Amino acid sequence: MAYNLLKGKKGIIFGALNEMSIAWKVAEKSYEEGAEFLLTNTPVSMRLGNVDELAKKCHTEVIAADATKESDLEVLVQKAIDKYGKLDFVLHSIGMSPNVRKKLPYDKLNYDYYHKTLDISALSFHKVITILKKKNAMNDWGSIVALSYVAAQRTLYGYNDMADAKSLLESIARSFGYIYGRENKVRVNTISQSPTMTTAGSGVKGIDGLMDFTERMSPLGNATADECADYCITMFSDLTKKVTMQNLFHDGGFSSMGMSLRAMTQYNKSLDIETER
Ligand SMILES: NC(=O)c1ccc[n+]([C@@H]2O[C@H](COP(=O)([O-])OP(=O)(O)OC[C@H]3O[C@@H](n4cnc5c(N)ncnc54)[C@H](O)[C@@H]3O)[C@@H](O)[C@H]2O)c1
Repeated sequence: MAYNLLKGKKGIIFGALNEMSIAWKVAEKSYEEGAEFLLTNTPVSMRLGNVDELAKKCHTEVIAADATKESDLEVLVQKAIDKYGKLDFVLHSIGMSPNVRKKLPYDKLNYDYYHKTLDISALSFHKVITILKKKNAMNDWGSIVALSYVAAQRTLYGYNDMADAKSLLESIARSFGYIYGRENKVRVNTISQSPTMTTAGSGVKGIDGLMDFTERMSPLGNATADECADYCITMFSDLTKKVTMQNLFHDGGFSSMGMSLRAMTQYNKSLDIETER
């Protein structure tokens, strides 16, 4: 059900690769809620995925941009301004770790890859906001959202250098949230989402077991990509005008839990097996 929450609002959505992508769902819902926006991804991802299909569905276009390259971002933001005038929302839904891809553990990281992880997954957020601000691209009370994960605060087996990238991403939201809020009344937040089965998600070591664990631990269960998109829409809307510099957990309650009955019951089963041996 649509509420017209984004009627007349314009934006840019980074990171829709395929139907599983969280950004894909955000784009679909933004369209349903009346927004107009540009989609963007890297040239390689545009070839590998099917973002063109999404663009057709949302009556828009895809602009190729590598979010680590300031020159690409300048062109992208200028195109958005030329098309729409000032913008109301931007979604940063970008993450990638070459160390995770190559299965290098945290105590044997390749430092060139580590730089790439931080550049792609965190510094790109700083670059996007810097260019939006330099070009005075955002309307007052505009909203910039990036997607994060609880590994920024807590150590989760296998999340590797992405945990460091997410900590940095959340810090950038706070630091820029202050400056952009003070000077232009623009909001900057991160949404910390449950583990979700997407292309990036499936790269996380042990994702199936992790999702089962977080499902059992969370009183409301894991949040889906669709539900994450709903939350993003409220953050883009005028209903959340005074929310800024926050890391907003969207995880069914997982981040406040220590142990649940459902998780304990499952854990005890494995203890029984151990003692039976
Ligand atoms: N899936 C999960 O479990 C989960 C949980 C919490 C947070 N997140 C975060 O959500 C965001 C979206 O991930 P997703 O799960 O939808 O997976 P996804 O693989 O669909 O999206 C990741 C996107 O990042 C893009 N990307 C990679 N390098 C880029 C670059 N240099 N420039 C521009 N774009 C680039 C990819 O092309 C892809 O579209 C990421 O920040 C991810 O860390 C995911």
